[in-house]
Amino acid sequence: MHHFHERNKELWAEEIRVADLAQEYGTPLYVYSTATLTRHFQAFDSAFSSIPHLTCFSVKCNSNLHVLKLLKELGAGADIVSGGELHRSLVAGMDPKHIVFSGVGKQNFEMQAALAADILMFNVESIQELETLSRLAQEMHTTARISLRINPDVDPQTHPYISTGLKENKFGIEMSQVVDIYARTKDLPGIEPVGIDCHIGSQLTQIEPFLDALDRLKSLRSQLTDMGLNIKYLDLGGGLGITYSEEDPPHPREFGQALSRALQNEDMTLILEPGRVIAGNAGILVSRVLATKSTQEKNFAVVDAAMNDLIRPSLYGAYHRIAEVKANQRPEKTVDVVGPICETGDFLAKDRILPGLEANDLIAVFSAGAYGFTMSSQYNSRPRAAEVLVDKDKSRIIRHRETYADLIRLEEKAR
Ligand code: LLP
Repeated sequence: MHHFHERNKELWAEEIRVADLAQEYGTPLYVYSTATLTRHFQAFDSAFSSIPHLTCFSVKCNSNLHVLKLLKELGAGADIVSGGELHRSLVAGMDPKHIVFSGVGKQNFEMQAALAADILMFNVESIQELETLSRLAQEMHTTARISLRINPDVDPQTHPYISTGLKENKFGIEMSQVVDIYARTKDLPGIEPVGIDCHIGSQLTQIEPFLDALDRLKSLRSQLTDMGLNIKYLDLGGGLGITYSEEDPPHPREFGQALSRALQNEDMTLILEPGRVIAGNAGILVSRVLATKSTQEKNFAVVDAAMNDLIRPSLYGAYHRIAEVKANQRPEKTVDVVGPICETGDFLAKDRILPGLEANDLIAVFSAGAYGFTMSSQYNSRPRAAEVLVDKDKSRIIRHRETYADLIRLEEKAR
């Protein structure tokens, strides 16, 4: 359920015409809905209200400061994977005690910054990382609360690029090594093991893989308890999927019920790291048609948004629903919606049936609120799009459109 809806044959974002936003801020334009972000966060978070839990929004999917601040005000913490995400989270006002730091290759300066901020927990992914963290924590006369990120070897049944909990993936520590490494933490100064963690993948549309992973983590926890470790946090990562097209993922309520039931008698705080399920359908990418053309094989609509703005279709073959911002009566056509970038792989949709598009029409690309702007680039020297946050009948710019000056700002002057 989101707050982008059609009224009088026009697309609205909450109480504002999307066409008016395009007029005011230009295109390509990311538009996020406050009501949708709020609703999604609350639906997710309240699904776990019967057990102790902490919902840490996965910053990588949408890291705009205003989005983070809104979610923080609703009670979210942050799941971060870099020093940059730590910086953003702190600037947005996130409570460090609600920040968990995942990531397979943390650098010393990033760990030092997180230690200085005194974050809740490091999700450690290798023995080397653990040893380095121990050394850094000692040097800083502090203690790092840690969990080990376990690779539970369960198949999340999702796109191979976004599945992370299989033996063949680079993430986490193999089940067979985990107990030994936890045992070693006892002799490592500056390290306090407080949790166990996993993240098995993204865009999951079934609950079973989560429950399988949870089972493995629970039995690991009882082993660790027997070893005298006090494991207080169970972090199950993110990954709950959304509807882009025909997918039918479980509702957060169902997800919450299933996990809460499984954890009822565990006396642990559950940490969740949702990203897409909160932000995915809370954003659209608005773009203008520049030209249309037809060959013997194909119809093309060339639009002003490209793979540099939204890479998911090119990178994963991902489907994003597209609709005109103002409905037209023209006959339907099968079109490829493509961007101006000089690559055949630059498309937003292939063989899509849309009412005949013409130059100057506006289109909306749906489900673009997660892994949209954050994965954008300046490829082909295209300044990155602007981001706007709508709240009822008000809109405000939350990131300005980049300028040509921004494109070259960090380059030394060419003589
Ligand atoms: N926690 C960790 C450790 C993660 O690696 C991820 C996502 C999440 C949480 C959040 O997962 P979510 O709830 O959003 O599924 N760029 C890809 C998605 C990559 C996901 C990477 N990790 C895409 O556009 O589909």
